Amino acid sequence: MTEARTPIISGNWKMHKNHFEAIQAVQKLHYRLGEEESDGVVVTVHPPFTDLRSVQTLIESDRMDIVLGAQDTYWESEGAFTGEVSPTMLAKLDVAYVIVGHSERRQFFGETDEMVNRKATAVIGAGMTPIVCCGETLEEREAGQAESKVDGQVRAGLASLSAGQVGALVVAYEPIWAIGTGRTATSEDAQAMCAHIRSVVADVWSAEAAAAVRIQYGGSVKPGNIADLMTQADIDGALVGGASLNPDEFAAIVQFRQH
Ligand code: PGA
Repeated sequence: MTEARTPIISGNWKMHKNHFEAIQAVQKLHYRLGEEESDGVVVTVHPPFTDLRSVQTLIESDRMDIVLGAQDTYWESEGAFTGEVSPTMLAKLDVAYVIVGHSERRQFFGETDEMVNRKATAVIGAGMTPIVCCGETLEEREAGQAESKVDGQVRAGLASLSAGQVGALVVAYEPIWAIGTGRTATSEDAQAMCAHIRSVVADVWSAEAAAAVRIQYGGSVKPGNIADLMTQADIDGALVGGASLNPDEFAAIVQFRQH
């Protein structure tokens, strides 16, 4: 992390918590973050769609320093797309950040880089910020293909966006073998890939975009490993799954400077 970029730590709840549980969790997180709130860190929470309205109301009424996010979106703004939710609907709920291309979406729901690109473009078009995920499988890492896989995902996922748009978004590097497994990439490996992503942005877009784009690491981030990850020059934050479900643990991750 360099001081030029504001750190961003995001809680991806996945398919956990109904709207009552979501309200309790956000109230507890707010309480745990305490007076200092988030210590200069942008904190986003990404509950399931059914919780968004409840969490939005809570954040606004209590003026919490917590930013609302979503886990996915469709790319059209309306139409005959049964079951889908549009970026304009999310924006209307004051959602500010939308995760796109999470590896679980790619693995279980067949999302391709082209779909990720459409989603990222639509999120920006609706005035929100995409968190664009990338990451390699264990087989790809062992075969020495991790960099080329991530490289391809970044180029294709962000294709046709302008340098200004790329500089303003968030990329989450999540090695698939580290997600939910308790197996974190070493800080050095995570740093190496985040530096690689930044160099791809410099190559394809611009040096300014590369300097500005925020890059998160994700995959078994916990209170015990966040501080070390955040000392790395190219890691600007974290996308946290399991540990974000527990407000105590998530607050401890946000307040990584204090431990
Ligand atoms: P994890 O999930 O922290 O539970 O490994 C990370 C993610 O999938 O975003």
